[in-house]
Amino acid sequence: MGEAARITVIGTGYVGLVSGACLAEMGHQVICADQAEWKVARLQQGEIPIYEPGLKELVATNVSANRLSFTSHIGGAIRSSDIIIIAVGTPTQDNGDVDMSQVNNVLTCIAANAVTSKTIVMKSTVPVGSGSLAEQHLRLLAASHIHLPVVSNPEFLREGSAIWDTFHPDRIVIGAKDPEAGIRIARLHASLRAEVLHTDRESAELIKYASNAFLATKISFINEMANVCEKVGANISLVAKGMGLDRRIGPHFLQAGVGYGGSCFPKDTKAQLKLAQNVDYDFQILRAVIDVNRLQRERFVTKIEREVGCLSGKRIAVLGLAFKPNTDDLRDAPALDIISALQQQGALIQAYDPAAAELVMERMPDVPVFTDPYEALDEVDAIVITTEWEAIRSLNWRLVRSLVKAPLIVDGRNMFEPVEMSQLGFTYVSVGRETAMLAELVV
Ligand code: UDX
Repeated sequence: MGEAARITVIGTGYVGLVSGACLAEMGHQVICADQAEWKVARLQQGEIPIYEPGLKELVATNVSANRLSFTSHIGGAIRSSDIIIIAVGTPTQDNGDVDMSQVNNVLTCIAANAVTSKTIVMKSTVPVGSGSLAEQHLRLLAASHIHLPVVSNPEFLREGSAIWDTFHPDRIVIGAKDPEAGIRIARLHASLRAEVLHTDRESAELIKYASNAFLATKISFINEMANVCEKVGANISLVAKGMGLDRRIGPHFLQAGVGYGGSCFPKDTKAQLKLAQNVDYDFQILRAVIDVNRLQRERFVTKIEREVGCLSGKRIAVLGLAFKPNTDDLRDAPALDIISALQQQGALIQAYDPAAAELVMERMPDVPVFTDPYEALDEVDAIVITTEWEAIRSLNWRLVRSLVKAPLIVDGRNMFEPVEMSQLGFTYVSVGRETAMLAELVV
């Protein structure tokens, strides 16, 4: 590895915590700072406020090795480091603009505390032009002899595999106006084998939004294709496989279902659309991507209704609540919208999720959530699958068949082979695969 650097990461949310722990593992001296004292106190006791496989162990190892520490004294942490990474939240405001208040507070704090020059890294997802504004902000407030260049270094971590993604990135994007500052940040990652792309700051900022918007586009595209498949009797799994074999298309992000959720795609697509509007550009594809994603959830509820009939008083097991497997994150999770829509029509929900149960009970106290999936399945009129957890795939489906009142599965993640589920005695309905051919095969 290159030389060990002294780094402060501000913000111990998902990105800050994972980045801080991974940089410590790479050998750097890292302080994770957060103004929320309760959070810092928990972290100091080895408790991790988010669910991410491997993170607890990684934090513990690096704390024991004295490479990683936590503090709520942000000023002190800034003074004792040469590199400051900003990893605070950038939520969307009601009008669609990005709320930069947390970033701006951090910049003010950096300017007030920096007594020596430091390199500032923008990890938070921010609209194009923010790096330049941040530098102006710092120049205005900091002493004139202090140099505080801002480098854009977006993250591309997926929840659930964030540690793997950090150590095996497809690329490291560094956008800097001051080339030396860019090289300094590239050196932090010297121990990783990854392509480093140096760009101007604006392009780096846009790469993050463009990547997320493009991935969201792939998902909405395949979902629309699935809807067409249902109308013409084709199978979306085979269509996606056939498309993905073309190396120009690639096999990833072509999984049809109930659409995307989570903390990034919904927020970043809307922010990119608004950003384009602000510069008088109508990003039509992105508008459609967002609409299709919303409609996909509605279509799924209509599908359940079509299969179950009148929903009033019907017991429905909803399996999988987190926005995707291996996380307890419920932000913009399709399952929550789907549950609300079913409840509005009088359905009685029995939910199950291997990780998010507690959080759902806090957010939706009227939804009974079971930690034993078989309890959620007892005597139900239909099974609805909304997240493709391995724990759901590996259920004893023969046993499930004997527990339910009606053997109906409406699968929003295409987890199973329709023929196999039919052979187990289920009426199995999924997304884009209701082909006449499959029905014939079973007979
Ligand atoms: C995403 C990006 O992948 C990551 O690079 C970025 O930094 C943050 O946003 P994440 O939100 O953790 O990561 O999850 P991801 O695995 O990308 O899935 C996002 C959503 O898309 C999930 O709801 C998932 O179920 C859905 N999805 C994904 C599909 O519906 N179909 C697919 O083929 C792929």
